Amino acid sequence: MDPAPNLTPVLGRYFQRAWSHGKGHRLFDTDGRAYLDFANGIAVTALGHAHPRVTAAIHAQVDRLIGPINAIGYAEPISRLATELAATFPDPLDSVMFLNSGSEAIDGALKLARRVTGRPGIVAFRGGFHGRTLGATSVTTSNINYRTGYEPLLPGVQIVPFPAAYDDHGGDEEAATQGSIAALRALFTSTMPASAVAAILIEPIQGEGGFVPAPLAFLRELRALCDEHGILLIADEVQTGFARTGRMWAFEHAGIVPDVVVLAKAIANGLPLSAIVSSRDLQERWGRGAHGSTYGGNPVACAAGLAVLETIRVEGVIENAAARGAELTSGLGAIAAEDDRIGDIRGPGLMVGVEFVRDRATREPDGSLPDRLIEACAENGLLVLSCGRFHEVVRWLPPIDVTAAEIAEAVEIFGDSLGSIARD
Ligand SMILES: Cc1ncc(COP(=O)(O)O)c(C=O)c1O
Repeated sequence: MDPAPNLTPVLGRYFQRAWSHGKGHRLFDTDGRAYLDFANGIAVTALGHAHPRVTAAIHAQVDRLIGPINAIGYAEPISRLATELAATFPDPLDSVMFLNSGSEAIDGALKLARRVTGRPGIVAFRGGFHGRTLGATSVTTSNINYRTGYEPLLPGVQIVPFPAAYDDHGGDEEAATQGSIAALRALFTSTMPASAVAAILIEPIQGEGGFVPAPLAFLRELRALCDEHGILLIADEVQTGFARTGRMWAFEHAGIVPDVVVLAKAIANGLPLSAIVSSRDLQERWGRGAHGSTYGGNPVACAAGLAVLETIRVEGVIENAAARGAELTSGLGAIAAEDDRIGDIRGPGLMVGVEFVRDRATREPDGSLPDRLIEACAENGLLVLSCGRFHEVVRWLPPIDVTAAEIAEAVEIFGDSLGSIARD
């Protein structure tokens, strides 16, 4: 029987289970079964469910002020979250616009870039996922289903190869870096002059596209290329942000500073909130009234956001993500040493992808095993997800305050579940 006959069938769902409630790092289905939740609604409830500090902040704010306030002035949790968020960024990133979702913030960032530079062009990377609004769809190429039937999309968008070392360059990061830089330079000399490009948009680690980190050298060369041509560098940190990768922001691994950073997902541990962060100068040049939102920066979501930042600060969550991530990667490495269906394990901190292949030598992706495997894991009490164009990658998004014992438990379930799936 269809569990929700009146609910749209359009949304893709990884599992056909019905969820009752969450507590800490466990999600409970309506039959009362507990699952170790290493999916977190795709990196959203990054501090787990019903986190005491976040829940208390939400309750307190609900009693004080719920309504959106943007159009009529200021409210303390909104202004304070902007200040506290800005403090987590390097100079000159000190100005925050709050919106509701990642897609909406991507659209806003593209508008900012066009308005401020007076240029039409937007460059994005193949395999990237930036959301579902028409603007975000125009820069999304992680799966053709996200684009089919929606053309014509935003004009002025150019897509270049992402520096995917494992999949496209035999694991050679330098070759991947030079390949993508060459593609950008070729674009500028053949198709769209650099002087017409407003922004280059990149996920420092591709999420939906397969948990593919851009080589750090590539991010540094990309920063230099943008500087050379007066192009704004926009980092989409919707999935990578908030300690996920063992740094507060994934761009920090490369030692670069983007011009614009887009945030969402973990920002309020489950309440809808997103943000565009840039220098004050850029947002002033964008101009008063050039963009807006009725609900963006809702006081309740911002109160939750303040509790998220406080938790990350006082509980040493960034260090935890780095240390637990290393344990996860090494546990998975031990499984891969015994099972050659695993081709690659990658990603810093707690954003770890396990790519499955039909043959380690050819690296031909195995698009059938991961979805069977995540179902087997769920049967055994662990929620992980798949990603990648062919669903060839199992993606791990443990809570950022996960414990060593939970990592060990999850790795054991994963190993047993994989072992239970017969080879084709
Ligand atoms: C990197 C990235 N950017 C943008 C988005 C879109 O965010 P939202 O679903 O909140 O619109 C997502 C969502 O998965 C994402 O992973």
